[in-house]
Amino acid sequence: MKDLELITHIKAKAYAELDDTERQLTELAIKSTAGSYAPYSHFNVGAAILLDNGQTVTGANQENVAFPSGTCAERSACFYAGANYPQAHFMMIAIAAKDSSGELTAQPTAPCGACRQALLEYEMRAGHDVPVLLAGRDCVYRLDSVHSLLPLSFTEF
Ligand code: THU
Repeated sequence: MKDLELITHIKAKAYAELDDTERQLTELAIKSTAGSYAPYSHFNVGAAILLDNGQTVTGANQENVAFPSGTCAERSACFYAGANYPQAHFMMIAIAAKDSSGELTAQPTAPCGACRQALLEYEMRAGHDVPVLLAGRDCVYRLDSVHSLLPLSFTEF
């Protein structure tokens, strides 16, 4: 028998420690929470994706009275990017959320499992690691790749 271990490296950066690209994308994700339609959860999530063609695309969670019909911010952004810029590769992803008080969540908000799986596919299409930024009130978690958020992932059948 072997023990296998999965390790995820996270850099917790103060806002002042972000480079220009990271800061701009994080700010865009925060701004994108304004597009959230969340009358049921009152949890407003925004996502921003930088593409290798220089474009940035954004998304926000969209809820529906028939609960499963809504979608998360990350998937609204990545599916928009895929549909509108099918040739472009993802370069960086930022995610932010505001709770019912309208404040950025104290802790960085991490994507749900389904969004990790969806984002992973775009990282695989890019053919390189895509850094992920998770915004919190005082710091931003930076992960080197989507894969590090979803180790031991389902990638082929
Ligand atoms: N939500 C996202 O937008 N992204 C995630 O990764 C997790 C959850 C949304 C879905 C729902 O509208 C609200 O947050 C509460 O779960």
